[in-house]
Amino acid sequence: MSVVVIVGTQWGDEGKGKITDYYAERSDHIVRFQGGNNAGHTIELEEEKFKLHLLPSGILRNDKKAVIGNGTVVDPKVLLEEINNLEKRGVDTSNLVLSDRAALIMPYHRAMDELEENLKGNLKAGTTKKGIGPCYSDKVARFGIRVIDLYNPGSLRDKLETIVPIKNKIFEAFGEDKSWDVERLHQKYTDYGKKLKDYVDDVSVLLDNAIDNDEDILFEGAQGTHLDIDHGVYPYTTSSHTTAAGASLGSGIGPINIDSVIGIMKAYTSRVGTGPFPAELEDEIADYIREKGGEYGTTTGRPRRVGWLDLVMVRYSSRVNSLTELAVTNVDVLSGLDEIKVCTGYRHEGKKIKEFPADIERIYDYEPVYETFQGWEEQDWDTIAEKGYSALPENVKEYLEYIEESIEVPITHISIGPKRHQTIAR
Ligand code: GDP
Ligand code: IMO
Ligand code: MG
Repeated sequence: MSVVVIVGTQWGDEGKGKITDYYAERSDHIVRFQGGNNAGHTIELEEEKFKLHLLPSGILRNDKKAVIGNGTVVDPKVLLEEINNLEKRGVDTSNLVLSDRAALIMPYHRAMDELEENLKGNLKAGTTKKGIGPCYSDKVARFGIRVIDLYNPGSLRDKLETIVPIKNKIFEAFGEDKSWDVERLHQKYTDYGKKLKDYVDDVSVLLDNAIDNDEDILFEGAQGTHLDIDHGVYPYTTSSHTTAAGASLGSGIGPINIDSVIGIMKAYTSRVGTGPFPAELEDEIADYIREKGGEYGTTTGRPRRVGWLDLVMVRYSSRVNSLTELAVTNVDVLSGLDEIKVCTGYRHEGKKIKEFPADIERIYDYEPVYETFQGWEEQDWDTIAEKGYSALPENVKEYLEYIEESIEVPITHISIGPKRHQTIAR
């Protein structure tokens, strides 16, 4: 039995989907525990490519349970579309389980996300506008609607009758021509409930039984550590706990059940959305990495900001997640560069700084301090994938071993391409 948590160590899009798919082969349950369809996890099989948003990556392996935990926010419209799209492509989704306690994204959450972003000025995070923040806000304010409410029509109606007029007043106050009708929402959401009914279960009980039966559980983090609502670059974060402890909260298993935490780290850094990014590149090297790595958002299509690897960020991630191992992705993307830099710390007013400050605005004044490495040529990555770690170019190994020593966490997997077979276990 093993309980493994996969988390992003940077700002998301580290390749969590790819590595989750890799580990899923050895797991019985693959569990999303936070976030919603703001996530975009790409999985490339040999012939086919899938982009998953809300569905756990385990959905592609029909002999595993793909579980959506209570800590997520679920847009039922999007979930049904995602299920239908996969079914049309021949993927059997009967292995899906949806927590009865998950929070539901309502249409007014999507509209509120848009409105708030427009009102926030410099504080806007550049959200995915999927209604994530407003849905979590309502959940915490005890103003939310959960999956289980879809199966109690009276209670759903009572809740909507209280909540909807308040939402409508807010939109009216901001001059927005939007209003929701209780009856229509009730009809729509009970209809979603009927379509989702077979998937709904108590996830905490399911996973507890799995642990008793010595089954393997894999938690699939979404977003990244530096987007965590508490530990990220607040307020330029998402609204959930993206860090490892979120797996326990967001699924209903106790924290001592977790055996290991794998941090996924891109060999460089990428970021969608606003906020500070100390090691950001805005030159031709950035364009090179962006084009070679296909660094465009899976969910919104926005070009991702890119920069050198920032070890301050990853060390921070190691601390707040209790990382037991690292998987480094996109190593192939850096090939062809003469030199590769790694940010090892920052300098400000003559002082060396080794930690991210709580006052995130201060980062804009920090100057990154870099260590420079020799680059490597483009390789036959498929042959290297077959031969293993020793076949990697010496400069790659030097780069990886420096990172490992600096973070003090072993690198156990190296990803050298988007496809399923392009992962080296060390
Ligand atoms: P996630 O959100 O963390 O699952 O990551 P995304 O799927 O949003 O973004 C990662 C992108 O990199 C996807 O297009 C993956 O197919 C791709 N990818 C993952 N690992 C590798 C790798 O080692 N090399 C290359 N070239 N692409 C990779
Ligand atoms: P995956 O799982 C990268 C970013 C948004 C924005 C901020 C808040 O694919 O790694 P939100 O819509 O969550 O309220 O937006 O978080 N963001 C992501 N960036 N990858 C993601 O997910 C992200 N999910 C949200 O760009 O800056
Ligand atoms: Mg992504």
